[in-house]
Amino acid sequence: MDIIKIKDLSFLYNEDDGLVLKDININIQKDEWNAILVYNGSGKSTISKFIVGLLKMTSGSINVNGKELVEGNEYEVRESISIVFQNPDNQFVGATVMDDIAFGLENKCLDREEMHRRIDFYSKKVNMYDFLNKEPHNLSGGEKQRVAIAGTLAMDTEVIILDEATSMLDPCGKNEVIETIKDSQDGEKTIINSNHKLNNTV
Ligand SMILES: Nc1ncnc2c1ncn2[C@@H]1O[C@H](COP(=O)(O)OP(=O)(O)OP(=O)(O)O)[C@@H](O)[C@H]1O
Ligand SMILES: [Mg+2]
Repeated sequence: MDIIKIKDLSFLYNEDDGLVLKDININIQKDEWNAILVYNGSGKSTISKFIVGLLKMTSGSINVNGKELVEGNEYEVRESISIVFQNPDNQFVGATVMDDIAFGLENKCLDREEMHRRIDFYSKKVNMYDFLNKEPHNLSGGEKQRVAIAGTLAMDTEVIILDEATSMLDPCGKNEVIETIKDSQDGEKTIINSNHKLNNTV
């Protein structure tokens, strides 16, 4: 079954550069590990931003969980989707790693006990527990990606978009983190893994 259907999506950032996406059709399978594998500059990050309603399409449609994505229902659609952006600096909002992971959870109205359980559990899963009181901006690129992934997993959404989410991790770290994501998927989450390298998509 398809949980996300992108139909005939076209888009341009500006008239001078022309279409960045032209008649794109993508069906994302529910509860599966889906890979979007294309070369640099072909529009993977742009597509990810569309799925979470951050960009306005020039033409086409996006359907998420049976609901057409239209202006005004982005927040509703976003409740079932979380994203790890390509550049982790774009998603840090908290003064510490702990605050940062907590920020997303606060919007879910979880009680404090459950919030701390998730922060501890997922920060341990990505080996960032000892960094909970550090400032995100002082972390290395790979550490930032680990924190961004922990924050996303802690949200426990139905769909997780990984936009080159492990690009700064060393090969062992990458395998470990991917296994962690697969464990938490447990056949009950939809993963969209955007990448330009085949061996990073499985
Ligand atoms: N904000 C923007 N304004 C104008 N053009 C943009 C903007 N963001 C991206 N582009 C252009 O849109 C095209 C697609 O970019 P996008 O970042 O979606 O590609 P990508 O497949 O994610 O690339 P990469 O593999 O390098 O991450 C590129 O040609 C890029 O230069
Ligand atoms: Mg990209």
